[in-house]
Amino acid sequence: EAPRPSKWGRRLKWTAYAAGAVAVVGGVLAYRHHPMPQQEPDPTKKTLLVLGTGWGAISLLRRLDTSEYNTIVVSPTNFFLFTPLLPSVTTGSLESRSIITPIKYFLRFKPFGIKFVEAEATQIDPASKTVEILDSGEVHGAITKTRLPYDYLVIGVGAESQTFGIKGVREFGLFLKEIRDARKIRTRLMDCIETAAFPGQPDDEIRRLLHMVVVGGGPTGVEYAGELHDFLRGEVDKWYPEIAPHLKITLIEALPHVLPMFSREMIEYTEKSFADMNIDLLANTAVQEVRAKELVVKDTKSGATREVPYGMLVWATGNTMRPVIKDLQARFADKGQSNRRGLVVDEYLRVAGMPDIWALGDCTATAFAPTAQVAAQQGTYLARQLNDLARTNRTGNDILATCPPFDYKHRATLAYIGDERGVSDVSLPFWSNMVSFAGYQSYLFWRSAYLSNLYTLRNRALVAFDWTKEKLFGRDISRE
Ligand code: FAD
Ligand code: NAI
Repeated sequence: EAPRPSKWGRRLKWTAYAAGAVAVVGGVLAYRHHPMPQQEPDPTKKTLLVLGTGWGAISLLRRLDTSEYNTIVVSPTNFFLFTPLLPSVTTGSLESRSIITPIKYFLRFKPFGIKFVEAEATQIDPASKTVEILDSGEVHGAITKTRLPYDYLVIGVGAESQTFGIKGVREFGLFLKEIRDARKIRTRLMDCIETAAFPGQPDDEIRRLLHMVVVGGGPTGVEYAGELHDFLRGEVDKWYPEIAPHLKITLIEALPHVLPMFSREMIEYTEKSFADMNIDLLANTAVQEVRAKELVVKDTKSGATREVPYGMLVWATGNTMRPVIKDLQARFADKGQSNRRGLVVDEYLRVAGMPDIWALGDCTATAFAPTAQVAAQQGTYLARQLNDLARTNRTGNDILATCPPFDYKHRATLAYIGDERGVSDVSLPFWSNMVSFAGYQSYLFWRSAYLSNLYTLRNRALVAFDWTKEKLFGRDISRE
């Protein structure tokens, strides 16, 4: 039998437990009440203006040595959005606040203050080194527009949803890019369901209202279709059994297959899974026009057109440039800025033809796909360059002298496709081949990868709580 610890041994043990508890509570309180650093601009330092609070900009700000610059951040959203989990907000699997983080949470641990301005950049003028900003919120003060001067400018404004100018898309379709888009989809979905359940609704109209169409078979469209499937099977079947048999999801894709950036096995697995889940995949079909209650689609092989009635339409056909980028490009077309995907940058992320301006993420046209992984790595790279630039007293144009060019390391391509199935193409270090796996393990991998990638402990706790809540009580079906 193990000897009983002495009286002093027991006291020591309980003292250690108490000290541990005090340290945890103290740490939480210190974190919760950490003050925002305040600082007047230092006229001896250069002004660094950062546009955006997305993947690229946040990754830059987290690593930037703020003591080297007077840093100003301008963005119409005063938070960072963790886009990979956005499709889950459309069905209430996750609450919207669980995947956003106020920008000030990132900035308060910086030793020197960063000024945040909630506004939209509307015009960039490299000649006068100023950016015009507009208060685009709903509440306006006496001043809504001004110009901010900069020494160095980083553009990370992302992109907006592409419509290819197809008639009716903006009027009748819903997008999935911002947090407000996900909330709109959640409300519209419940509106279609409640309207279909209205007494005496004719069968044809019930079928139309419950026909949910997703256009675009890229990862946004596929992940949304998967989440929608889970909501319909998990909640609508249970709460609206009288109309549930009429529910239908259709995914329309102009190309022969979905998920072009995944390996062939993962594409086949997704298409087979969609067949199992009764998600209708209309491949080789391009939408030509959107009307209030029907779409006009064209078979890209035969050229035949037909009408498809729908209740809700989610449009996910990729990215296009934001107006501020289009405007800048138009003025620098003769200086190599004519790429329709975005700003042309060199391998150091410097914008072609515009001194002291860098750009990163979805607003640029590079050899890399417009993904969070790329934008985040570019942000880290640029922070290192800007820290280095300030410490060595060089100017923006000198950067070529010592810095290595940006080098992207692809880690993985993951997607959730519904029914607790995922698809993953993972690059391993020291292994030239990619490892692909699909199904339940891939879904668990997807969940754990994104849970651990969330930037704050608070967001991780909220997401884990929402997932547990969904398992125990199901999703909320209120239309609000
Ligand atoms: P964003 O993150 O879009 O940030 C742009 C920022 O600029 C925002 O803060 C915005 O408010 C601000 N802004 C906009 N206009 C202006 C203006 N005029 N002036 C100033 N600021 C402005 N990628 C992955 O790698 N993995 C995934 O799993 C994944 N899932 C995704 C799921 C969805 C639903 C979507 C839509 C995208 C997903 N992506 C994913 C792609 C990824 O989100 C983008 O590639 C990434 O957000 C690009 O980062 P960014 O910093 O360029 O732009
Ligand atoms: P996308 O550009 O990847 O796919 C859009 C799809 O829409 C294309 O396959 C295209 O053929 C199709 N399309 C275009 N016009 C059409 C029409 N008129 N009718 C029917 N189909 C049409 O766009 P998506 O999914 O919005 O993604 C944008 C970016 O974000 C991509 O770079 C993607 O890699 C990234 N992303 C990554 C995710 C992940 O890694 N899990 C999740 C979501 C987005």
